[in-house]
Amino acid sequence: MIWRVKRTIVLLARVFLFAAISIDQTLAQQNIRASKTEQTEKSGQTGQAGQDSASLVNGYEPMWWKEAVVYQVYPRSFQDSNGDGIGDLNGITQHLDYLKKLGVNVIWLSPHYDSPNADNGYDIRDYRKVMKEFGTMADFDRMLAGIKARHMRLIVDLVVNHTSDEHHWFVESRSSKDNPYRDYYFWRDGKPNPADPAHPLPPNNYPSFFSGSAWQWDESTKQFYLHYFAVKQPDLNWDNPKVREDVFALMKFWLDKGVDGFRMDVIPLISKQPGLPDLTPEQLKAPPRLWANGPHRDEYLQEMNREVLSKYDVMTVGEAIGITLEEEPKIINSQRHELNMVFNFDAVRINRGEFYSEKKWTLPQLKAIYDRHASVLGKTDWDTVFLSNHDNPRLVSNFGDTSTAEFRVRSAKLIETMLMTLRGTPFIYQGDELGMTNFPFKRVDQFNDIEVKNAYEEKVLGGKMTEAEFIAESQRFGRDNSRTPMQWSDAPNAGFTAAAAAPWLAVNPNYPEINAAKEQTDPDSILHYTQEAIALHHAHLAFVYGDYKDIDPENPQVYAYTRTLNEAGKPDQRFLVVLNFGEKPVEYALPEGLKAGKLALANIPGTPEAGGMTLRLGAWDARVYSF
Ligand code: NOJ
Repeated sequence: MIWRVKRTIVLLARVFLFAAISIDQTLAQQNIRASKTEQTEKSGQTGQAGQDSASLVNGYEPMWWKEAVVYQVYPRSFQDSNGDGIGDLNGITQHLDYLKKLGVNVIWLSPHYDSPNADNGYDIRDYRKVMKEFGTMADFDRMLAGIKARHMRLIVDLVVNHTSDEHHWFVESRSSKDNPYRDYYFWRDGKPNPADPAHPLPPNNYPSFFSGSAWQWDESTKQFYLHYFAVKQPDLNWDNPKVREDVFALMKFWLDKGVDGFRMDVIPLISKQPGLPDLTPEQLKAPPRLWANGPHRDEYLQEMNREVLSKYDVMTVGEAIGITLEEEPKIINSQRHELNMVFNFDAVRINRGEFYSEKKWTLPQLKAIYDRHASVLGKTDWDTVFLSNHDNPRLVSNFGDTSTAEFRVRSAKLIETMLMTLRGTPFIYQGDELGMTNFPFKRVDQFNDIEVKNAYEEKVLGGKMTEAEFIAESQRFGRDNSRTPMQWSDAPNAGFTAAAAAPWLAVNPNYPEINAAKEQTDPDSILHYTQEAIALHHAHLAFVYGDYKDIDPENPQVYAYTRTLNEAGKPDQRFLVVLNFGEKPVEYALPEGLKAGKLALANIPGTPEAGGMTLRLGAWDARVYSF
């Protein structure tokens, strides 16, 4: 009886928590930390090199972006406010209170610039204009003001490895060989083609990420141009100082507007190999490894930092395609003055073989990745933690269990617990806080993504794979899984759009079951739980600057680790995270000397408050204890 009363109080409290959320508390925390960061800046210390050790936290220089929780918005799929079936900036503005209540404090906006949308905005036609489907610059300014008014920050996508072929630089560049913009891109003669002399062969054997050759023949000047991605995404030539100058100017344009930094698309690819020689057969197995390690990458990033980033208080996160963990410090070590952090793909791609094929993985392998991060990255580096984005499947479909409604909820909560308690700035992708799932794709015409469409031509029409195999793999790993519209309610089209016509990409048919409105009224929802997990992350610096220790690396089913922070003059913060990665219940005896104390977070209602030395873990059980 007492338990029931207690539980009712807890449930009611959770509903209130989402409605009223401890905004004051969060604001107070943010202000304290912001002023800490400001103090650091005012004293002229921008890197640990000259840092007074008293202002470090466990050896780390405190920074607002280290303490942030980031939420990625894919604008096309977030909220349509004008009934055209496409998400837009005013749609984002409508939901800022939702994001504030969730507790995230930085929004990463996927590209919002003018674009012909060959790759949904990752092909930019004009860096200083808003995509017309998304609204106007006034809408952008209103959205930014709304974000700032709520004490949140905004980082925007910086896509400068390539532009759209409709960007005026490229239009000029392709117009003639002596156009001043010719060298903004890579133009090369083809190789002789004895079989068909009128149609030369590509200058080298580079493959494109989106199938076929990375070279496109251009009839007007009879040369090829380089495009690592789609034909409509020509690569910029960063070796040309004018390109760098123009890119730095457009970055300043957005920073002067008040944006708080950038997520940098495939940024390691900006420095090309001198002479663009053929890839060797070995290099052809993983071209980005070579492409990401061009001779001037660090020089150009340092120039960018010197000319632009160092003049603003910003957060930068690079997409570390082709970079190993060991190579990361070259880019993120604060003493090198390049970027703050990068996305490393080892964890998110642990289950991926060739293209969209599935690779078996084990929990010890996943732990080994995070353990290695903790040992390779030092106090002057900073890490990110994420397991989903617009290029990967839905979080719970990819790493959780969607076989039953109950397991979907529990496993989604377990993963959120992990993301909020591991080392590094956590990134959440829109809809994962609701436990949205992959889409039940059955036919190729249901996909919109250029990656899938091009691969279909190469693999199915090219006779390398059957249609059924291709659909199965694309259903599992295709990028459109995460791009289906946000499920706001059980209204038609999940409340994403009021359009009479279909939205740009179909809504997942499970929206009557999985949607934000429903989860807002359910105290045990994934949404409420994610909010609690984020609040826990914000409440304790141990989850930001604390040491990480995997206490049982070989355990095939349980991931258990500690986060501890001992700051002079302050009470020690010691947390134990225990995650049962699977449906099999297990009695888990903690290693010698460790005893779980008070429960700080649990994904199964009714989990006992006190821990002890042995924990009875249910299916997909996730717990955080102090100890
Ligand atoms: C990485 C982005 O995340 C992806 O969506 C895009 O297709 C490529 N870069 C090309 O810009």
